[in-house]
Amino acid sequence: MSRQPVAGMACSATGLGALLKESAARLKAAGIDQPGLEAAWMVEHVLTLSPLMQRVQAEREMTVTQCEQVRGLIARRAAREPLQYLLGTQEFCGRDFRVTPSVLIPRPESALLVDEAVRRCAHIHAPTVVDVGTGSGCLAVSVALALPGARVVALDVSADALVVARANIAQYGLEARLACFHGDLLAPIAEQGWAHQVHVMLSNPPYIADEGVAALQPEVRDFEPRLALAGGRDGMDVHRRLLEQAPAYLKPGGVLLMEVGIGQAGAVCRQAEKHGQFRLSAVLQDQGGIDRVVCFEKKAA
Ligand SMILES: C[S@@+](CC[C@H](N)C(=O)[O-])C[C@H]1O[C@@H](n2cnc3c(N)ncnc32)[C@H](O)[C@@H]1O
Repeated sequence: MSRQPVAGMACSATGLGALLKESAARLKAAGIDQPGLEAAWMVEHVLTLSPLMQRVQAEREMTVTQCEQVRGLIARRAAREPLQYLLGTQEFCGRDFRVTPSVLIPRPESALLVDEAVRRCAHIHAPTVVDVGTGSGCLAVSVALALPGARVVALDVSADALVVARANIAQYGLEARLACFHGDLLAPIAEQGWAHQVHVMLSNPPYIADEGVAALQPEVRDFEPRLALAGGRDGMDVHRRLLEQAPAYLKPGGVLLMEVGIGQAGAVCRQAEKHGQFRLSAVLQDQGGIDRVVCFEKKAA
């Protein structure tokens, strides 16, 4: 197979195939599960060359800069930095979202929140939807794209997360009907005077017990924002506060959808019952059969 010359100095060690091999070996030694695949994705990121074409062009020579870029990414991944932060993107609900270390990497199970919010709004003309703790904005954007008539608001206490959310909102051209506000839980919509206006409120709050954070895998524990993970002594501080605050902003019959951690659904339901303003409407399970989303309807006054 013919070599494809590239401009710049040749990489000291190697052509593309050898660099892939070296990279995969380094990732394997660091305990990464799919070292060959991840090495190929990082080369794809640097060269804009698909894994298939990488095989075809295995003898291609790399520039020093390209080698350094790939090796830099491999070193960071070997230190267990999540692949998504290195590549700057994560797929969610069939679309790509920009991610940085300021936001949680979207998880597939959170699509349950999107599907349920959309289902609950399907027959409402111009529904108002609020996403509490929006992070990358993946839930708010997915809901807004599925409901072209909806007004959507995305809230987060992290100003850095909202920078990322705004970039995703702009990427999908939603600025006109998806607004971001910075503040603690529902304080921003209190300022907007949104009492009893919300049809559906959805949230994937932090829900790891504070003490459990240390036991998470290094990719999560050392790189994802603690603010997105730690939910207090039992992991349910934000759920409790949302149950307290949400009734003032939901319409009668309005819905509060919250993602919960493993084993938390029962406790969150009991808390809602104690509160008295909600009726439990459903508990949705994820693909692993875990109770993952609790759905409450605000009782009529
Ligand atoms: C688990 S992440 C969810 C991010 C995104 N919604 C998702 O599903 O990928 C929780 C988010 O809630 C935000 N958050 C934590 N405490 C908050 C609070 N008191 N008020 C508003 N947002 C909060 C965090 O900054 C983080 O972005």
